Amino acid sequence: MQLALDLKAEIMELKRARNAVILAHNYQTGDIQDVADYVGDSLGLAYQAKSTDADVIVFCGVHFMAETAKIVNPAKIVVLPDKDAGCSLEQSCPADQLAAFLETNRDKNYYVIAYINCSGGVKALCDVICTSGNAVKIVNQAPADRPILFVPDANLGAWVKEQTGRKMDLWQGSCYVHVEFTRDSINRIKAEYPEALVVAHPECTQAVRLLADEVCSTEKMVTYCRNAPVKDIIVVTESGMLHRLRRECPDKNLIPGPTDRCACADCRYMKMNTMEKLRNCLRDLEPRVEMDEETRKRAELPLLRMLEQSK
Ligand code: 13P
Ligand code: SF4
Repeated sequence: MQLALDLKAEIMELKRARNAVILAHNYQTGDIQDVADYVGDSLGLAYQAKSTDADVIVFCGVHFMAETAKIVNPAKIVVLPDKDAGCSLEQSCPADQLAAFLETNRDKNYYVIAYINCSGGVKALCDVICTSGNAVKIVNQAPADRPILFVPDANLGAWVKEQTGRKMDLWQGSCYVHVEFTRDSINRIKAEYPEALVVAHPECTQAVRLLADEVCSTEKMVTYCRNAPVKDIIVVTESGMLHRLRRECPDKNLIPGPTDRCACADCRYMKMNTMEKLRNCLRDLEPRVEMDEETRKRAELPLLRMLEQSK
C-alpha cells in the first residue's frame, strides 16, 4: 500500500517538474486513470494532445494514439510508458500493403477514410481520419462522387455503412479483443440480467451489435450509462472501461460483457502500461515517439481535416 502511495507521489512530483500532462485512454488500468489529467476516447485524446500547453505529453494508451499526439503537436516531447503497446487493427493494415492496393486500384480514385487505429504511414496515405466517436459524421461528409475505401476495421466499417447508407469497400482488419464477444456469450449474460440494457463498441461483430441497445465509442458510453433509465447495464468492450464508468456513474450496476473464455475482455496492448513504467518514462523522458517530418506532415492533413469535420 505504502509502495503504491510512494509511486503515485513520485509520478505527481515528476509530472510537475517536467511540466507534463498525462493523457490516458479509457482502457488503461484504474491506477493509471486515477493519476491522469484527462481520461477519454481516441477523439477526446486527440483534441487534448493538440491543445495542451505542457512541454511533455505522457500518453497512456497504445502506440498509434501517442503517435497521433506527436503528429498534431510535433513541438512536444511525447512519451508512452511501453513502446511495444501496439494494436491488432494497426497491424492488420501495413502502409506498404495499402499503398500497393491503392496503386493497383488507381482507376477507382478512392476517397480513403482511415480509422485512427492505424500507423502514421497509413494516415499519410488517407484523405481523412475518423474515430469511433465521429465515424458516421465523417463518412456523411465524404464526397458523393467518389467511391470510399474504409481501413482497417471491417466491423466498424460495416456499422458505419448501416448508419449512413453509404457504400464502402472495407479493409478486412479487426480488433482481436472485440471479436471475442459472441452472440452466445452476450445472450448468456443477458439471461442473467433480464432487465439490463446493453451498450457495445462498434468494433464488435454485427451478431453482437444486433443484441445491443446502443452502439457507440467509449466516451459516449459514459453519457449513455449516466442517462440510462435502468440500473443494470452490460458493457461490451474492453475491461478498463468499467473503472471509468463506475467512477462516473456510481449509482449504476455496470456488468462487463463476457467472452466465451473470460468474464471480461482485456486488451493485452493497453495493459502493457503500468504505474512503474509511467514513472520511468516521466523520469527518463523515454521511450519517445518520433517520426520523419515528411510522413508526419502528410499524416497531419487528414487528422486536421477530421478535427475540423467533427466539430
Ligand atoms: P474509442 O475511440 O471508442 O475509445 O476506441 C478506441 C479503441 O481502441 C477501441 O478498441
Ligand atoms: Fe487495438 Fe483492440 Fe486494443 Fe483497441 S482494444 S487498442 S482496437 S487491439
